[in-house]
Amino acid sequence: MASHLSTTLTVDLGTRSYPIYIGQDLLDDAALLTKHIVGREVLIVTNTTVAPLYLARVAAHLTDYRCETVILPDGEQYKSLDVLNQIFDRLLETKYSRQVTLIALGGGVIGDMTGFAAACYQRGVPFIQIPTTLLSQVDSSVGGKTAVNHPMGKNMIGAFYQPQCVIADTNTLNTLADRELSSGLAEVIKYGLINDLAFFEWLEENIEGLLKRDSELLAYAVARSCQDKADLVAEDEQERGVRALLNLGHTFGHAVETGMGYGNWLHGEGIAAGMVMAADLSQRMGWLTADDVARIIRLLKQAGLPVAPPAEMSADQFMQLMAVDKKVQDGNIRLVLMRGLGESVVSDDYDRAALAATLTSFQLS
Ligand code: NAD
Ligand code: GLY
Repeated sequence: MASHLSTTLTVDLGTRSYPIYIGQDLLDDAALLTKHIVGREVLIVTNTTVAPLYLARVAAHLTDYRCETVILPDGEQYKSLDVLNQIFDRLLETKYSRQVTLIALGGGVIGDMTGFAAACYQRGVPFIQIPTTLLSQVDSSVGGKTAVNHPMGKNMIGAFYQPQCVIADTNTLNTLADRELSSGLAEVIKYGLINDLAFFEWLEENIEGLLKRDSELLAYAVARSCQDKADLVAEDEQERGVRALLNLGHTFGHAVETGMGYGNWLHGEGIAAGMVMAADLSQRMGWLTADDVARIIRLLKQAGLPVAPPAEMSADQFMQLMAVDKKVQDGNIRLVLMRGLGESVVSDDYDRAALAATLTSFQLS
């Protein structure tokens, strides 16, 4: 069946460049999918929530392939080495060769795990991202970060490994829970705060329509977010420099996710609180005005997101958890802070007393 393809973007990585297709009903476009399958063997990885919704539509295009499916349990708490093994078990039981293509059908948890499995199986096989949450369409499916969690730290076991393509069918967002839509909006707002003030202002004007799932507004937000991310990834694939900006709110946010137990705070919720904490520290450094911080908080609140971390997390607990962060260098916690609205920087020369004041200010008194 023909699809209403609206946008194709490119992640420009030389010979490993790949397209991001964004549009309605792309799941029904057989040719779009099959042209990126390298051999005749396919393993679809999905979960117990997404399978009943979308698996049949994808599998219908693969009747001429040797196609198997692995259906994982649903939840951030299953993004672990143990559960990852279920993918390897199936690949080996089925005697899949190095020509197998893995398809990730689901949100960021499925995308990150499938990508990591693809990076490892026989030292690397191709994979395709079919993201079905807003968060995965605007962020996790693009850029090749793949990982599982360790009990002591988020995404600590992983690899950089790029997909063959990303197919983002924006109609899949219609079945998403409101809380998950909001979680994705946190990452969308992040792009505005990193380096795209005009997008932040567009979001301030259009947040109500996005929450009502206006399809044109959602498609625009997905495409703009993917373009902003693709630009940073093309410049710095392995996060030696500017790509770290994509971690705005993440050092604080990952500490919340780990500290509260994986799955209790959604990723975007942790990032929203983390961006408010980064804004608070940036204001203490004299880089943001009170009005800037109020605008950030207002937009996040309108998007249905938390604007403070869990009050029961102590400053000490934050410091311990933040020390297990991939941006730490020589024991120094580097943070993404805001020099102005829409102008983020990676910094290790912030005032440590100001960080302590930020952490303490959000604690239960
Ligand atoms: P998720 O994968 O857990 O999906 C959220 C929930 O929505 C799940 O219950 C899922 O089953 C359900 N779901 C998925 N698609 C649906 C649909 N169309 N309709 C109804 N329900 C649907 O979470 P997420 O927010 O998509 O991703 C979060 C994960 O992504 C975290 O593990 C985070 O660390 C990771 N992440 C990775 C990167 C990266 O660059 N690789 C970037 C950001 C986040
Ligand atoms: N989500 C952060 C990154 O992809 O770099």
